[in-house]
Amino acid sequence: MNILIIGGGGREHTIAWKLSQSKQCEQLFVTPGNAGTHQIAQNLSLDVNDFHGIKQVVLENNIQMVIVGPEDPLVNGIHDFFLSDISLKGVTVVGPRKAAATLEGSKEFAKEFMKTHNIPTARYDSFTAETIEEGCRFLETMEAPYVLKADGLAAGKGVLILENLTDAQNELRQMLIGQKFGKASKKVVIEEFLKGIELSCFVLTDGKNYLTLPMAKDYKRIGEGDTGLNTGGMGAISPVPFASPEFIKKIEDRIIKPTMDGFQKSNLPFQGFVFIGLIKVGEDPFVIEYNVRMGDPEAEVVFPRIQNDWVELFKAVGTQTLDQHQLQIDPRSATTIVAVSGGYPEAYQKGKNITGISEVKTSTVFHAGTQMDEGTIKTSGGRVLAVTSFGKDHNEAIEQSYKALGKINFQGMYYRKDLGFDL
Ligand code: AMP
Ligand code: GLY
Repeated sequence: MNILIIGGGGREHTIAWKLSQSKQCEQLFVTPGNAGTHQIAQNLSLDVNDFHGIKQVVLENNIQMVIVGPEDPLVNGIHDFFLSDISLKGVTVVGPRKAAATLEGSKEFAKEFMKTHNIPTARYDSFTAETIEEGCRFLETMEAPYVLKADGLAAGKGVLILENLTDAQNELRQMLIGQKFGKASKKVVIEEFLKGIELSCFVLTDGKNYLTLPMAKDYKRIGEGDTGLNTGGMGAISPVPFASPEFIKKIEDRIIKPTMDGFQKSNLPFQGFVFIGLIKVGEDPFVIEYNVRMGDPEAEVVFPRIQNDWVELFKAVGTQTLDQHQLQIDPRSATTIVAVSGGYPEAYQKGKNITGISEVKTSTVFHAGTQMDEGTIKTSGGRVLAVTSFGKDHNEAIEQSYKALGKINFQGMYYRKDLGFDL
């Protein structure tokens, strides 16, 4: 079978790496891909939102399966585009339809979904420019810290947490009237602050059946000790040491099952990955957010632990037969540590030579922002590489990744040295 992966980060390299191990995978394409996918697949230069270009490539290369990595094309309706075109009939698309992708595309929609289906989440209300004064009064009824969320997609930057009421009211005005996050903050969700430790759970669903994937925890802040600006993710571990079997059962009963039932009842067609961002408050799980794709860098620890043939699993998503599969999970701990370009998540340089990757033998180096340039691998993004290792526990895996990172170099390279500090 010929397969196309849409996206070009560490998550897509990881998916390509898994698919390329399957005997059923004939030709593998990635668009736009990176220097890592270049080594195991054919990179194309189409934008992830160029649906007509993607259609052309699918038809020309007899591609029968399309795996959508990032949220953007899903929120823009790529799955619906495929279904509406007779010439693309029979192509399996892994990723939800537009209606279901709104769970990530609109925070308010996600909160309403949770309220309707009794899924535990923080108390909230949402406001627009017309109701800004009500929003300011709503903030007065809450306690600090105040959580403000731009309703739409804001590249992971749309959430503000403020200690002081006046600051929160000012920021609300900035978001609604000053268009701080552009169109994304035309509507703002204000919610109660939940105090606890975060983790993520992942579900693969075919729209009828589902499989719960291993849990993971990522490290979002740029600085050690979880300080500084938010990033796409600086590293991840799986399994999560503080997620006991009892706690996982609560997640299954209170969150995963009601979410899956909710998709049916609310008529949200979902074939793909559900990424549920959770917070553990005391001994209870609450949902912080839904994403409609795998996490990155969580993918770099979750996929390596799943030993199944991924072409089989994705085919089962297309035929709604996931109930005939069970996951085979490597019991060891996996860790990934992300090396970024100096300056990230603010302005950073590109085009730096990367050395030492081929010297890494006992870890797997997944590429993110890299590019092949006349035979050399160069940096081309903020998050450059994710180095994944296994160990008997997370400490051993983390140590292994640090050893591997010691062999790799590029000008301005930075990574957090404290992964797992909070465990
Ligand atoms: P989100 O984009 O919704 O995942 O939010 C980004 C980050 O803000 C989360 O990873 C949390 O660290 C934090 N956050 C979001 N909502 C809350 C909340 N209700 N209480 C505490 N922290 C939150
Ligand atoms: N690592 C968080 C995300 O993929 O959104």
